[in-house]
Amino acid sequence: MSEATNIYPIYDRMLSRADKEALLKQRGVMIWFTGLSGSGKSTVALGVERELHRRGILCRILDGDNIRSGINKNLGFSAEDRKENIRRIAEVGKLFVDTGIVTLAAFISPTNESRRMACDIIGADDFKEVYISTPIEVCEARDVKGLYARARRGEIKNFTGVSAPFEVPESPALSLDTSKLSLEESVNQVLTLILQNNK
Ligand code: ADX
Repeated sequence: MSEATNIYPIYDRMLSRADKEALLKQRGVMIWFTGLSGSGKSTVALGVERELHRRGILCRILDGDNIRSGINKNLGFSAEDRKENIRRIAEVGKLFVDTGIVTLAAFISPTNESRRMACDIIGADDFKEVYISTPIEVCEARDVKGLYARARRGEIKNFTGVSAPFEVPESPALSLDTSKLSLEESVNQVLTLILQNNK
């Protein structure tokens, strides 16, 4: 066989991120929500998604329901599994960001180490950390899924904030306490952060 069979013409290469961003007329970015269960991460992400969509900006939410029931369904809540959860989410998120999509990740991501890893995978320029700082008393009073009550009864092990740690982020781009701010105010602050970057 001639060596020429191993030569691939340049037009077979994948198009670049810049090509995708030019097509979409927007910039890819990862908005990384972190905070306790019940703090409001998903609710704020959903509000942001709706507002961005309305403005013609393509976005994608990654959250516990679509990730832990699919790609990460073999993972639990040990420290090791949580780290692997975040690593895979960051790798998947990077694919979206590299396609020019505004990507909203809503996971507890309880440790500085796991959030730093996510930032390293995605790249600091494309990574905006949003801390949903709602106090645990409020999250627990909401107890939307009844999990805090079960964790207090000892029925769920390693429950974040009860029997597993949550480390407060050191320098988030935004800090939002959903017990003090209205949903609209929280959504607007995240929108401002995104739109500053998307001119
Ligand atoms: S993370 O710590 O690995 O980032 P992730 O955001 O994917 O967590 O999943 C958290 C969600 O899983 C919670 O909102 C809650 O509904 C559920 N959950 C089940 N067991 C636990 C647990 N032990 N600790 C925290 N959340 C749990």
